Amino acid sequence: MSQPVLKIENLHVAIEGKEIVKGFDLEIHGGEIHAIMGPNGTGKSTLASALMGHPKYEITEGKVTFLGQDLLEMEVDERARAGMFLAMQYPSEIAGVTNSDFLRTAINARRGEGNEIPLMKFIKKLDEKMALLDMGEEFATRYLNEGFSGGEKKRNEILQLMMLEPKLAILDEIDSGLDIDALKVVAKGVNAMRSPEFSCLIITHYQRLLNYITPDKVHVMMQGRIVKSGGPELAERLEAEGYDGLKKELGIEEEEGTVEQEA
Ligand SMILES: Nc1ncnc2c1ncn2[C@@H]1O[C@H](COP(=O)(O)OP(=O)(O)O)[C@@H](O)[C@H]1O
Ligand SMILES: [Mg+2]
Repeated sequence: MSQPVLKIENLHVAIEGKEIVKGFDLEIHGGEIHAIMGPNGTGKSTLASALMGHPKYEITEGKVTFLGQDLLEMEVDERARAGMFLAMQYPSEIAGVTNSDFLRTAINARRGEGNEIPLMKFIKKLDEKMALLDMGEEFATRYLNEGFSGGEKKRNEILQLMMLEPKLAILDEIDSGLDIDALKVVAKGVNAMRSPEFSCLIITHYQRLLNYITPDKVHVMMQGRIVKSGGPELAERLEAEGYDGLKKELGIEEEEGTVEQEA
């Protein structure tokens, strides 16, 4: 088999001295879509933020390679330039920067000086992707995420994904708060990206997005590590039984002091 796009070995991540991710292993190859499902508070967003290099998250143990490179040695912007994309559970607003400016800057940052995308080519690509995502033209000139509804923010993240064409996208709860139409649009965008050059890690609490994006592998994360892996049928089982059935089967006890928070 070819070199994995992402390889995580025995990853441990702590926040403010408290260990949240506790021995996480995962290997994603080119063209694969993996889903990580798990109860709230289990460390899914912590994993995503740590992979993107958020300074608050301390890697205490383990190894991560991205296309063979030591990811943990790379700065945040290097990770993005190397082709990693993170859609956050709570996208931030950037006042005074239009969507279109943001996208062009991001694309050019990745392409490097002297290799900027020609303006007409950029506009054509933007129009194409926005049409596919059923986004009105005004989205291009609006300020990034300012006054966007939850659904609009998520749709906009998928627009960024399609414009930037990363090698690996990590989508953290991209489905949270979406109505069914927005959910379908998000799925359409991700499905349109499917190619041997694109890999995707979908993090979600619920199965419903996976009705529209069929993952190659599904992993269940509990208490900071993967406790079970399988195919799409695993997600269906969780939908039917909830997480409690699996906890019982695997003999996983509730952790003391774990507060279930609403997504
Ligand atoms: N920035 C933070 N500071 C302190 N604790 C945090 C922070 N982010 C997450 N946690 C804690 O880490 C645990 C895992 O959170 P998170 O990774 O958001 O879980 P999930 O995404 O699976 O719902 C929770 O107990 C949460 O309270
Ligand atoms: Mg989360």
